[in-house]
Amino acid sequence: MAEVSQKLMELQIPYKNATLLYGPPETGKTMFARYIAFKKALPLCYLNFSRIIDSYMGSTAKNIAKAFAYASSNSCIFMLDEVDTISCDRKSTSGKGSDGEMSRITVTLMQEFDKIPNDVIVLAATNRYDLLDSAFVSRFSTKQEMKPFTTEENQKMIQMFLSDIGYEFDETEINRIVKGTHDQREIMSKTIQLLAEKI
Ligand SMILES: Nc1ncnc2c1ncn2[C@@H]1O[C@H](COP(=O)(O)OP(=O)(O)OP(=O)(O)O)[C@@H](O)[C@H]1O
Ligand SMILES: [Mg+2]
Repeated sequence: MAEVSQKLMELQIPYKNATLLYGPPETGKTMFARYIAFKKALPLCYLNFSRIIDSYMGSTAKNIAKAFAYASSNSCIFMLDEVDTISCDRKSTSGKGSDGEMSRITVTLMQEFDKIPNDVIVLAATNRYDLLDSAFVSRFSTKQEMKPFTTEENQKMIQMFLSDIGYEFDETEINRIVKGTHDQREIMSKTIQLLAEKI
């Protein structure tokens, strides 16, 4: 995909490698961006929309433009996290007051998005896919649902994490960690807690 984008860029055809990750909290959406940056050996440009809403709404559009210009200046993984914070459905808002300002910010977001060069890999994440503006969603070439791991997948997550660092837990210990929860954050923190006790 990255190679195709590159080739099309040489032909001056805009074609973004953009993936929208959606799914419930703690399913590894934010972490996935870090993993891709590591795998691709590219810098990660991280923008969390829940933190850029300025109390002076007019500044938010300016902040977005600045961040996008910065990310576009180099080949990188550009992560747009918690995009539902601003990319809300324009049809469902009144167009007045702060809703109207939100729609304008969404328009800015899309204009800036369209300017991103092909060599920037875009990842966006949300746990409220239903709130996103359809014109924003349609800009992503891939939409990927992140589902919570099954118990077996959670056991595997622990094993992979431990084998990466050269440790092992026995089966009972792993079962105790995954028992009664599917929350991947909680499972990882319990794993690290047990590891700390062992060390
Ligand atoms: N595949 C995984 N491998 C290892 N750890 C994971 C994995 N998925 C989730 N985790 C653990 O769960 C934590 C939460 O993941 P992350 O913050 O990426 O979730 P999220 O989907 O972005 O959640 P939110 O929607 O709340 O932002 C991570 O910090 C990590 O500890
Ligand atoms: Mg997240």
